[in-house]
Amino acid sequence: MGDTVTLSSQELQDAAKQHLWLHFTRMSTYNKGDVPVIVRGSGPYVYDDKGKRYLDGLAGLFVSMVGHGRTELAEAASKQASELAYFPLWSYAHPAAVQLAAKLAELAPGDLNRVFFTTSGSEAVESAWKLAKAYFKLKGEWSRYKVISREWAYHGTSMGALAVTGLSSIKPDFEPLPPGGVRVPNTNFYRAPSFVASSEEEFGVWAADEIERAILREDPSSVAAVFLEPVQNSGGCFTPPPGYFQRVRSICDKYGVLLVSDEVICAFGRLGYYFGSERYGYQPDIITFAKGATSGYSPLGGMIVRDELMEPFLTGNATFLHGITFAGHPVSAAVALANLNVFEHDNILGNVRANEAGFRATLDKLRDLPIVGDVRGAGYFYGIELVKDKNTKETFDDDESERLLRGFLSGALFDAGLICRADDRGDPVIQLAPPLICTQEHFDEMEQILRSVLTEAWSKI
Ligand SMILES: Cc1ncc(COP(=O)(O)O)c(C=O)c1O
Repeated sequence: MGDTVTLSSQELQDAAKQHLWLHFTRMSTYNKGDVPVIVRGSGPYVYDDKGKRYLDGLAGLFVSMVGHGRTELAEAASKQASELAYFPLWSYAHPAAVQLAAKLAELAPGDLNRVFFTTSGSEAVESAWKLAKAYFKLKGEWSRYKVISREWAYHGTSMGALAVTGLSSIKPDFEPLPPGGVRVPNTNFYRAPSFVASSEEEFGVWAADEIERAILREDPSSVAAVFLEPVQNSGGCFTPPPGYFQRVRSICDKYGVLLVSDEVICAFGRLGYYFGSERYGYQPDIITFAKGATSGYSPLGGMIVRDELMEPFLTGNATFLHGITFAGHPVSAAVALANLNVFEHDNILGNVRANEAGFRATLDKLRDLPIVGDVRGAGYFYGIELVKDKNTKETFDDDESERLLRGFLSGALFDAGLICRADDRGDPVIQLAPPLICTQEHFDEMEQILRSVLTEAWSKI
């Protein structure tokens, strides 16, 4: 097969159907329908092989922060590849990784000063759990290995990251998973238990205290880390109640447990700050990142670690026996530096902060639709929960969800020119996380498409 650019639409379809395995995708869907083929992008829009334009309401997959088609990022990749295309971080350094590590240490909150690169978010989460275990062993706390995370939270697909993940529906095919994953409630205030449903603060105290109860139940000396996203993606953008993270931080301190802020989605401007923990004012022990670090122009992930966690590894023959061939790849590191330059030059964080209220207000207009139960989120990151009955908050059963989300909504939104995610891994939600360069005209476009497609969806129930 030759250069992809020379393939006709039909040839692309045939080859995709015969040879390409799409991720998290029911491949049988394409026995009849076409595989969507996206060929290029510009700003917040992408175009398919037939030239049709789509508003990229999910920034690819929470990735394309500065938008598509930024030639300065492509040029940074080209320049680095010409100079030094590859060298590992196993015993060697290269300037792009050194500069990027220093830059991230400068941007990250408090004494998060040490960067361990990976190529993806799953590897970042996997690395953070491995580091937590290895760190405690070095300190003589041999029995600490468990990880606490929240119901429905997605933390990745490798075996360790999957064990941290709180979505029970995606695990059974791969069991047994590494032991030690412990679940606590998430912060979905829309569905708060009745005894704390009248006050978000009280709900937050309860949800944080559930972490303490889990630590005590499991035996504090067995718990290594708590993994939390600043705003939980899966289930539909669960924001932290006021004071939640401060309480979690003090619970972690009380029992000597590490707090890992999984910012694979929430870092690099998604919430209007370089890091989500900054927005909510808490100090993690480890931040995991990926996705937006390069705006997707090259893959990169990693973890940023507090000085204290690094310390035991700085003496004698102590070694973190962990590494990944392509982690901190020179091209990806150079692209990440160029991406951060664009952030500064174009005031990307300022754009999110200036426009997030307008984005929210525009989506809030959809609340007049009978199918819209809740609109929640922060920054450029929103979830719209769909319900059968607004008054009772009754959700759709599995069959209805299947018909509504997979059978209709996903396809209809795409056909109408909006890429977003209709997700039923918790209660049914539509997720929006557009490039951070979007402005009011793009929010209006999203609202109009959603209004028309959700109105049609309601008529089909
Ligand atoms: C919070 C979180 N952690 C980890 C991951 C895994 O990242 P990756 O797909 O790059 O392995 C994701 C992916 O969406 C994520 O949202």
